[in-house]
Amino acid sequence: MFSLKSGLRVGLDIGSHAIKLVVAEKGSHGRLKLQKALTRDIYTGQEKYDPDGPKKVTVVPLLLEMFQEVGVRPRRLAHLATCVGGLNQAAKEIRTVQMSDEEMNSSILQEARKHVPLDGSESVVDYQIIGEDPKEADKVRVLVAATTKRIFEAHLDMLREAELKPHLVDLEPLAAVNSYLGHNELPDDGVVVFLNIGARRTNLTLLGRKDMFFSRDLPIGGYAFTEEIMKKLGVKFEEAEEIKKTQGVGAKTMKVESAAGPDSFALAEKSAMERLGDEINRSLRYYVKETGQSFFTHIEVVGGMAESREMIDFLTQKFSIDVRPFDPFAYVEGSQDVRHRSQFAAAVGLATRAQSL
Ligand SMILES: Nc1ncnc2c1ncn2[C@@H]1O[C@H](COP(=O)(O)OP(=O)(O)O)[C@@H](O)[C@H]1O
Ligand SMILES: [Mg+2]
Repeated sequence: MFSLKSGLRVGLDIGSHAIKLVVAEKGSHGRLKLQKALTRDIYTGQEKYDPDGPKKVTVVPLLLEMFQEVGVRPRRLAHLATCVGGLNQAAKEIRTVQMSDEEMNSSILQEARKHVPLDGSESVVDYQIIGEDPKEADKVRVLVAATTKRIFEAHLDMLREAELKPHLVDLEPLAAVNSYLGHNELPDDGVVVFLNIGARRTNLTLLGRKDMFFSRDLPIGGYAFTEEIMKKLGVKFEEAEEIKKTQGVGAKTMKVESAAGPDSFALAEKSAMERLGDEINRSLRYYVKETGQSFFTHIEVVGGMAESREMIDFLTQKFSIDVRPFDPFAYVEGSQDVRHRSQFAAAVGLATRAQSL
């Protein structure tokens, strides 16, 4: 009989700045074949920014519009993957002895509680065994993903209002990394630095074949650069966004003077670029201290900020390493016309995972 469910693979990433939607069908050789990739800005500078994520009243109408534009009825979807980002979520690798599923469940839950910042609600935890521990034969490597019930329920509730029911919910940093992992070999020696630079946060993830998986959120992203332009030039959010995209983020020219004024001895505040660089540096140092691994092969950058040539050049210089904007559509058929490609990393990663749902 006629199937009422759609076979489309859909990845939906509701960010702090923009919603990214990727609609694809099965392509050849297990690849995706793109139907549509769409973005809509959520944050326009008018409303107060909510660190818990964008408000339902703003997001739901945009979602309805976007699904209408791609011509997909939300209720028919059978392969929808979405993600949660922002506060109160964590992904971590632990190495543990082999155990039964039941033992693993309770042991992982306990472990995860230590790493998810509490917001007063229970944790929601999932895990995946990623291989054997190369150092200790009786142990396995487990990737644990956790968030809180409050965040998780709020996410589902927002989607429900748009009649969307996800079949898989991932964490944003993992979704972004997934757009890369399917088609790229990890180095045998050393780790790849993967940066997903969004508007409010940067997810830094370290990936190696044998080395410890590591993921951390840095509290700085594209918005800090916009804010800097707003202050420096006395312009509103929208104008600053426009200047940033057309004239560049202005790392060299845009030092913000401290409130003490130019005559005082106070040092000028660090630029957003320097602060981002410092945060990345701090995480890499932490990793070296924890694991002893100090060989970072190169940096892959995704997220809206990956389009900034200045930022790529700044990171290249600062870390004396190869820094590349990553194109998540590189292996997606029919995607040659998509613009702002790197911004879609998490959405492509989600659509890829929706393949197997
Ligand atoms: N060409 C560009 N140059 C610099 N920044 C950009 C450019 N295009 C987009 N951005 C910035 O990228 C950020 C949005 O990226 P995105 O990954 O969608 O964020 P989020 O996931 O937080 O919604 C915004 O801060 C936006 O200003
Ligand atoms: Mg994002």
